[in-house]
Formats: sequence, structure tokens, C-alpha cells
Amino acid sequence: MERKDLLNLVKDMTITEKAMQMTQLNSGMICHTQLTNLTGPFREWSFTDEQVEHAGSILATRGAEEIMRIQKEYLEKSKHKIPLVFMDDVIHGYRTIYPIPLAQGCSFDADLIEQAASETAKEASAAGIHVTFSPMADLVRDPRWGRVMESPGEDPYLAGVAAAAMVRGYQGEDVSAKDKVGACIKHFAAYGQPEGGREYNTVDMSRGVLRDFYLPAYKAAVDAGVELVMASFNTVERVPATCSQYLLRQILREEWGFKGMVISDFAAMDEIMNHCVAADAYEAGEKCLKAGMDMEMMSGVYIASLEKLLEEGAITMDEIDECVLRILELKNRLGLFENPYKGADPELEKELFCCDAHRETARKLAAESMVLLKNEGVLPLQEGKTIGLAGPLASSGRILGAWSCDGRIEDSITIERGLRNVLGDKLVTAATTEFFGEAIDIPDDTEAALEAFKDCEICVVAVGEKEWETGEAASKTVLTLPPNQEKLIHTLKANGKKVVTLLFTGRPMDITPILGDSDAVLQAWFPGTEGGNAIADILFGRVNPCGRLTMSFPRNVGQIPVYYNCYNTGRPNVSDDKYSSRYLDCPNAPLYPFGYGLSYTQFAYSDMKLEANGGTHPRGMQAHELDAGTLKVSVKVKNAGAVSGAVVAQLYIRDVSGSVVRPLKELKGYQKLTLQPQEEQIVEFEITKEMLSFYNNDEKFVFEPGLFEIMLGNHAEDVITESVWIR
Ligand code: GLC
Repeated sequence: MERKDLLNLVKDMTITEKAMQMTQLNSGMICHTQLTNLTGPFREWSFTDEQVEHAGSILATRGAEEIMRIQKEYLEKSKHKIPLVFMDDVIHGYRTIYPIPLAQGCSFDADLIEQAASETAKEASAAGIHVTFSPMADLVRDPRWGRVMESPGEDPYLAGVAAAAMVRGYQGEDVSAKDKVGACIKHFAAYGQPEGGREYNTVDMSRGVLRDFYLPAYKAAVDAGVELVMASFNTVERVPATCSQYLLRQILREEWGFKGMVISDFAAMDEIMNHCVAADAYEAGEKCLKAGMDMEMMSGVYIASLEKLLEEGAITMDEIDECVLRILELKNRLGLFENPYKGADPELEKELFCCDAHRETARKLAAESMVLLKNEGVLPLQEGKTIGLAGPLASSGRILGAWSCDGRIEDSITIERGLRNVLGDKLVTAATTEFFGEAIDIPDDTEAALEAFKDCEICVVAVGEKEWETGEAASKTVLTLPPNQEKLIHTLKANGKKVVTLLFTGRPMDITPILGDSDAVLQAWFPGTEGGNAIADILFGRVNPCGRLTMSFPRNVGQIPVYYNCYNTGRPNVSDDKYSSRYLDCPNAPLYPFGYGLSYTQFAYSDMKLEANGGTHPRGMQAHELDAGTLKVSVKVKNAGAVSGAVVAQLYIRDVSGSVVRPLKELKGYQKLTLQPQEEQIVEFEITKEMLSFYNNDEKFVFEPGLFEIMLGNHAEDVITESVWIR
């Protein structure tokens, strides 16, 4: 449809029709059936039938036939024939479930992340979905918060790489294509930093920290052409993001040039009254409209307020039309005016759901996402040996994780099935009672396990969280495993077994209590539909583990937040000086740092070189003139072991002194490469001015000449460093 036609459409709409076009409802409200798939507290809003017939969008309806039926009935009654846009939380797969996003980030494999998103779009579009509320790119540093599972982690650069890859996978080159869906970056902004890790809690930080750490990943998605932005529940600078002109107009529209549609989070427009920045729906409606909030999800503020606000002159029709036009433009880019059913296809959805090709990608990505944290000579396992398998996640299909959309546990390849595919009847299982629902812990089946495993030298123990203990509304203050899960590990070890602990969690847990009694620890996250096969691939060495942590593991919950890109403070704990920034009872360093992950081989870094063009600085280090060309750095990486493996060579930079404090190091690039035994490669990076720049306290993105440390290595605490004066 031409733009002029869209403008004429807007002109012909009444204020009620416009307010409803700016409202997203649940299909139960449109069709007067049971409300389903609610992802927030639902306060009754009274919509008249006439209003409902003009709703602009539907949240969380699933299935091509149902969506086609609703769209057909809706358009038959619609005066303007504006199609509904169907949106849903397709976060890490639709029916084929891929690893949770926190796991996907650990793969450091943007191409595979994009491939998974592309396959997800195929399934979602065939099921009738037009837009997914993904990627989530909230920077996270606090594993008490349940939604860390949805994020790529604690680093702005990696999070941006992952978010942009997902946007490309979902949208492709033409988002109106039948196998593509619109993507929505969320939650704008900084939802990942709630005080105390407590869900929906206050977020407060300086604008410099917001811009240096929390905004870059969202911007990477905007630069990748994301169609929508979802505002977050939380406040920023004491203003709810939902009505923040600083975020939604100054940064998103004016600075970043975002032209797409902004949607609120679930009933978040209603909640700005709870935040006490609006006394009633009129004030809430006015503030959200002034901020440029285009569509209201699952509440009735706009329909209750716009007409009166217009009469009072508090808002203008132009301000309303700006939002309505962006909604119609989104529908137009999705091709819905030409084909309101887009990719919906009841036959195709059945062919695509958990098809071999999608399962293969899910299996590969799950294996690449798993992080080997410890291995003392027990992995890889030898086929043909009798192995014990225990734990509540051993035989459970509940390895999909939170936000697993239309995923079905019966489609899951369980850990037991994955290992039995290799071991046959040499796999002995015991103490595998599932752990879900309201269960606080597993039963104490250690005696049965010891009896069953009497001929097993090695025992694999699959422990972790319940799926609903992660994701939204799942903050926790205790991050250790339940006592009987820990007891299983301790008891098997105490009885002479070699213990391989598999962790199925949506967050870095406090694993200190079980580390000593585990001969190997594999962080499996929630690996998705192919989890069992991926675990078998890793445990038997068919895939050499290459996952690298994108979120630090704390030694205990008291150490939180602990993250790699922190500031030095005036009293860094470089020695055990009492009067330095430290704890009396715990080291500062995390249990495992950002970028960490073991392999079945060893990688050695050597011969780091800087190709600086500025000779020697008077203070003795190398110098480089940036304007005369980028600074090239390189390092030799060798596979010093006996098996091939993938390694993530990481580039970190430290600005040693700035007009404001600067982090001890920041990831500015990485290269993932596979090396054969004894093979070595030179890995090169170009240092650009952008990599060296940051936001000062005037919110200006600046490069300040001076001393920099360039670091290359295996993880945040294992690098080779060269200093250089850059101007
Ligand atoms: C939820 C979540 C958001 C999700 C939305 C729709 O409350 O915060 O991530 O997309 O509601 O389900």
C-alpha cells in the first residue's frame, strides 16, 4: 500500500478507531473466549464490543488455523479492512526449541545464532505469527534475576553481536516474506539491572553507565533494522521507560533515527500509575503519547483517555496520528494489507515443527553453547563403559527452559535417551525422579543410586533448576542447588565414584558447594529439544566443548554483582592489603570469569604483536597515530593438544586514564576458529577509534588520546597485554 493511502486511512479513522488501533489485546478478549498465555497480572479492562472490533493487534495466539480464523472474522467486520498484526514471545524457538539465549551467547557463533532465528521465523510464520518479541538484549550482571536466561550476558559488544544476528535471522532481507517475522528488541532500557536482582524493581544509574554498558546492544539491533522496540517496565532516571521522552524520543528517535514501532510491555502503561508518575489514566495516556508510545499492550489507558485529552487540548490529533501511522507502516512492511494471513499455513507448520533440519541446528547450537567448567581427567567418556546416570533432569523432557513458546516436552531428547543412544544397556539409571511443579527438592534416593551404580566407575548427575524458576517473575536469593541434589553428588563421590555434574540452569548458580566433589562440571543451561543428543555429543567427545561464559559465575550470592568489565576503584585489591576494596570472607574474583570455558584440548597464545606507527613514546611504550591508520594487533594461537577444537580468541581493551573512570577491560572483538592438533594460526584485529571511545559525562561519544592496554587471550582473566600510547 502506498504511503498516501496509509495517510488517507488514518484521516478516515475516528478517535475510537485510532485508540484501539494503538491497543494490543489477547485473542480471548477479541473472541470473548477464555484468556490464555497471560504473561502479566491482568486487571479487568472494560472494552465494548465496538471497541474490540477495532483492536490493532493480538498477543500470544498460536496455530495457523486459529489465527487465520480470527483474522478472517475480524476483517469481515472491519470497516477499514486494517488487518490485525499477531505478535508472540518466540524467544528461542517456536516448536523446535533451541538453547536459551544466555546459552546461545556462550557459543560466540553469530552465524549459528542467526540460523536458529531464521528457522524459528519459518516455524512461527507458518504458525501465523507476524512479529516476535525477541531478541531480548538487557545487559545482565545479577543472576538473582530470573530473566538473565533471556539475555546474551554481561558484555555490551557480545550482546550486540547476538541481538543483531537474531534480527537478521528473524527478518531476513524482506520482512514481508512468508518465512520471515518482524523482530522486537527489548526491554528498552536497562531492565536487566533491577536493585537486588528483584524482578520489576527500581533501576537507577548514571547516563554514562547507561550509554556505555546498557544501550549498545539495543542500538546494534536498531542498526540491524529491527522493526519494533519494546519499552521496559522499569524506571530510568526515576521515569518509567514506558513514558520516558529521554529514552523513547531523544535517544531512540532523534539520536538513533529509529523509524519503527514502539510497544509497551504487558500492561506497563497502566503501571505508570503504580510508579506514581500518573494519577489516573488521563495523565498516563498523555505522558505515554508525548513519549511516542505507539501501541499499548494489554491495558486500556489509550481507549480510556485519548478522546478526552484531545478535547482538553492536552494532546493533538497529529501526535495520535504519528503513532497510528507507524502501526500501519509496520503492517504495510509486513505485507499484511496485501496478504493478511502472511505465512500462515496449517500444513507447512506441521512439516516444519521439529523437522530434522531444525533439530540438527538445535543440536549443534546446544553443543556449542555448553560450557565445560571443570574436567579432572574424566571427560570425554569412553563408549562401551558402564555409566551411571542420576538426577532430576536425567530422564526429564523439561530441559527447554522458560519462554519456550509452543515447545513440547514430549519432543525433547532427554539426557537419558541421548546417552542410551550411545551406550545402550550399559547405561544404568537411578534416582531420576523429576523435579518440577511445586517440588522443593528431589527425594533422597542416594541409597538406591549407590546400589544401582555398584558396577559403575563413573556417574553422570543431571541437576539444576525447574524451568519456571527461571525467566520472568523468577528472582531468587538462594542460588545453591536444593540439598538432596547436592547430597546425590556428595554421596556418589564419597563412595568412590567419579562424578560428572551436568547443570541445567537458566542462570549462573552458586556451585561452590558441589565443585569439590565433581570431577567434571558441564554448564548445560536449558539446551532445548535436542538437549540429550547434544549432551551425548559433548560427553563422548564427538563435539569438543567450546562454549565460553558470557556471564561470570559468582563464588556465592554475597559476591553479586560480579562482572569482568568493572572499574578499578581507588583501592584495587591487588594485594591482601586490609585497606583495599575487598571482602573479609571471599576473594573479589568470580569463580569463573567472562569468556571462560575448557576444551578437551589446550590452546596456547604467544607472540603478541602491535603494528604501531608512532615509534616510541617519551614514556617508553610504543606510540600510534590513529589518524594515520588503525592499529593492528596479532597473536599466535596454537592447539597444543591431541584433538581438534574450536577456540574463541578474545580482544580486550583498557583505556588506562580518561576524563571519567574507565573499565579494567572491555571486550572489543573476538574470532572463533577451529584448529587441528598442533595447528597454529595468527589471529589479527584492527583497533579502530570507535573501539577506543566511550560516553563522557556530557553524553558525548569521545576518543581521548592516551595510554591504552591491548589484551588478547583465552578469557577475561587469561590475556597477554601490550601497552601503547594512542593519539
Ligand atoms: C511480559 C514480558 C515481555 C513479553 C510480554 C508479552 O511481561 O516482560 O518480555 O514480551 O510480557 O508476553
